[in-house]
Amino acid sequence: MDYNVYIPKLAKIIEIKEEVGGSRPIKSFRTHFINKNDFSHRCGQSAMISVLGKGESMISISSSPLVKDYLQFSILKMGRVTTALHEMQVGNVIGIRGPYGNGFPIEEWKGKNLVFIGGGIGLAPIWSVLNTALGKREDYGDLILIYGARTSKDLVFNDELKELKKKITVFLSVDVEEEGWKEFVGFVPQNVTDKKPSPKNSITVTCGPPIMIKFVIKALKDLGFEDEQIYTTVENKMKCGIGKCGRCNIGKHYVCKDGPVYSWAQLKNLPQEY
Ligand SMILES: Cc1cc2nc3c(=O)[nH]c(=O)nc-3n(C[C@H](O)[C@H](O)[C@H](O)COP(=O)(O)OP(=O)(O)OC[C@H]3O[C@@H](n4cnc5c(N)ncnc54)[C@H](O)[C@@H]3O)c2cc1C
Ligand code: FES
Repeated sequence: MDYNVYIPKLAKIIEIKEEVGGSRPIKSFRTHFINKNDFSHRCGQSAMISVLGKGESMISISSSPLVKDYLQFSILKMGRVTTALHEMQVGNVIGIRGPYGNGFPIEEWKGKNLVFIGGGIGLAPIWSVLNTALGKREDYGDLILIYGARTSKDLVFNDELKELKKKITVFLSVDVEEEGWKEFVGFVPQNVTDKKPSPKNSITVTCGPPIMIKFVIKALKDLGFEDEQIYTTVENKMKCGIGKCGRCNIGKHYVCKDGPVYSWAQLKNLPQEY
């Protein structure tokens, strides 16, 4: 049979976790391929998730490649496809094609300290690389997570964050004061400036809203991080995911194929279209 890159593999939803409620809900979906599973991904890669009759959306794979039992996606409800996903139940079937993109060069980072900086749903791509580094703990130096959301109720992976605090340094923040909150109050870039992660032998990965990334990079530069030490992801709107349709371009770059992971050294030289 002819191979068609646009045909998704069918996967069953085996677990759904409500991460965040309210007006910007986020759910994590664990999925299992129905037929033979030859899908293997690198951390930072994404997949096109499809819902029959609704369409497709590009979503980061939030589980580590070290986890073989399931593939996890953590999804903010936005529009047609993500709303349909949020209405699904355990046992429902979705389509998955991919994996797409370049992924984080985590093998090159062996022996270095890793500083992860995330905002909101931006923790999803970080979660994959962070858990991969945790799974190969002896390969890396200090692991630090600086993560924030609008309110404590908007923090994803809340239960896992409590466990993570027992293993690595975790600095959390919320945007505005709230009763009972004992950690940092303010935006994520301000928390970076406050906690002063050292650039010495370090790589930093930052994912979140573009405005957050912009000011996190500024804060990191002020702390002495070089452009080559800063990695981020660009989440331009995508359609094909395979460098064919021209939907995701930055200049001649296809973000779906050449990205979405870039070092700041690479990204700052691209046209400012993202
Ligand atoms: C590489 C990559 C990784 C991503 N990873 C995740 C993830 O892990 N979890 C997650 O929840 N979302 C992720 N997204 C965003 C996700 O693809 C969109 O939110 C989703 O496609 C919206 O589809 P929809 O049909 O629900 O909304 P639509 O009906 O298509 O759109 C609803 C609203 O969302 C806006 N929108 C759609 N796509 C994007 C986009 N890419 N960026 C900004 N605004 C957008 C539209 O302009 C519109 O205002 C990722 C995007 C990319 C490109
Ligand atoms: S999404 Fe089609 S070229 Fe990138």
